[in-house]
Amino acid sequence: MCGIVAYSGKNEAFPILINGLKKLEYRGYDSAGIGTVNGSVHLHKREGKVNDLVSYCAGKNTSGKIGLGHTRWATHGCANNQNAHPHQSQSKRLTLVHNGIIENYEALKEMLTFHDFNFESDTDSEVLVQLVEWYQIRYKLSTRVALGRALQDVQGSYAVVLHDTSVKYQLLAARSESPLVIGLGEEGHFVSSDSMTFDHSAKSIIYLEEKVIAELHQNEEPAFYTLDDITIDQDILPFDYRKVAVSKGDFESYTLKEIFEQKLSVSRTLNGFSNYNSEELSKVLDDVDRIIITACGTSCHSGIVAEYLIEKYAHLNVEVEYASEMRYKCHTLGKRDLVIGISQSGETADTKMALEIAKSKGVKTLAIVNGVNSSIARIADQVIYLKAGIEIGVASTKAFTSQLSAILMLTVLIAKTKNTLTQERLDEMIFELKKLPAYVSKTLAVSEKIARRVAYHIADAQSALYLGRGLSFPIAIEGALKLKEISYIHAEGYPSGEMKHGPIALVEEDLPVIAIVNNDESAAKIISNIQEVKARKAMVIVVKNEDVELPRNIADHVINVPAVPSYLNPIIQSIPLQLLAYYTAKLKGCNIDQPRNLAKSVTVE
Ligand code: G6P
Repeated sequence: MCGIVAYSGKNEAFPILINGLKKLEYRGYDSAGIGTVNGSVHLHKREGKVNDLVSYCAGKNTSGKIGLGHTRWATHGCANNQNAHPHQSQSKRLTLVHNGIIENYEALKEMLTFHDFNFESDTDSEVLVQLVEWYQIRYKLSTRVALGRALQDVQGSYAVVLHDTSVKYQLLAARSESPLVIGLGEEGHFVSSDSMTFDHSAKSIIYLEEKVIAELHQNEEPAFYTLDDITIDQDILPFDYRKVAVSKGDFESYTLKEIFEQKLSVSRTLNGFSNYNSEELSKVLDDVDRIIITACGTSCHSGIVAEYLIEKYAHLNVEVEYASEMRYKCHTLGKRDLVIGISQSGETADTKMALEIAKSKGVKTLAIVNGVNSSIARIADQVIYLKAGIEIGVASTKAFTSQLSAILMLTVLIAKTKNTLTQERLDEMIFELKKLPAYVSKTLAVSEKIARRVAYHIADAQSALYLGRGLSFPIAIEGALKLKEISYIHAEGYPSGEMKHGPIALVEEDLPVIAIVNNDESAAKIISNIQEVKARKAMVIVVKNEDVELPRNIADHVINVPAVPSYLNPIIQSIPLQLLAYYTAKLKGCNIDQPRNLAKSVTVE
């Protein structure tokens, strides 16, 4: 989703902003723009990538020690140069970048048009900057007060940075339901959607609270105001640049690096959970009769794994809801429910909203997130941090297996609290969980080559079918999502038993069918389902534990993974599926780290 970066300081803003925008590319976007201020505003906007913007700016005036940059993920109006940010007010005095959606923009635009304001773009964001100017002119207000008034008229979400050319070196920033952080340093101040764009000079960070306006002047302490212009305080925390610095290392892409990092990320999640104060969580779980898990995309698939695990080992009823559907299915929420929101970024608008709905009904909430200090982490009553490290690849890989690791630990904790497993069994599960990083390492080692080879057989396919049963069903849908997201091959995941109720109509010669066979009670049944597709000449690729015996000639390709206890299989089996999607996408020449149309952090509903 849209990314914001702004700077006011002692140094030239252009290279700092471009560097920041490049770091925000992971969020997904389709145009980029920049405005630097040196007396007047030098505005440059381009459809396409940040590098296209850089080439376009060559030889143009980009001077100034203050500036605003933006990557836009189109919502209102297509991706073109005009709709790219920054946007300016009619007089060109105000320049603004915005992330979010102004839901009532049409009514506001109508009012402004009536007052002779003309618009250059189709965006809701331009309406906001014009509205600020309208307040300035009509009521003779300062920029800050006018911004506060305009934001009070806005319905929807926003993170904005505004500069007024008549107030030298000043940046105004505000947010509601969209992320925005401020970095303070001796050489200047930064405002951004993500602290990873700050450079080494940033020494402290402010996680701006909802509906607070920050006023930043070069080399001065920041000041904060409510939208009604009352001074308030914000927490200023120390910031360590080294903790957010990321690089691809020797890998060809962030996604591949993150797939191979899973040994480490899984172990960080497990260690983090062990150090977590589980007593408080046990107290919450004690009087819970039902868990509702809500999430989007890959995180929702983690939720389905949790449903299987918690119901099996802790005998607790679990329901999984897409976060975007939660508001239509929340009528029976009650005091003995626990709503768990799972999110890598911690900023997904739908998941955030679902947790807010639960809270408004007095229901207990728990967040499982990777994004430290993210919006979702701040909303929930309790938080389990994944500690997987920053994930840059848009398609989630290491965050997914970390979510599954946290879910396994949570399952053990609930089983202990609910007394559904003997101490011996609990100890055995913990013992196996400790071996997980080693299992992950072995899986990466044994499956990479074969996944790379099998990818050649999938790369030309129009579509693919993923089948699983029991615990491998959510892994089948996640495997299909991964292939879809990064290689653009249409793929569906199904419970293998459901296959003959529809999807089998699609099975024809050479259709890739990826079947995931667990070393548990589901194995015999899924093997029968594989026979059914094989009989229809599909190309069968089986991912299975090495201790599972397959009938002869049933599979065209077999990817073996280590024989682990079945509850660890979702993590172990995901790895070859990630690699398969990765190498298929690579053969097709796709931009794997930034797939088309996708955003890493979906901050609009
Ligand atoms: C986007 C991403 C997906 C991700 C989903 C949920 O759609 O492209 O990879 O799974 O959002 O994101 P979250 O940060 O809440 O896990």
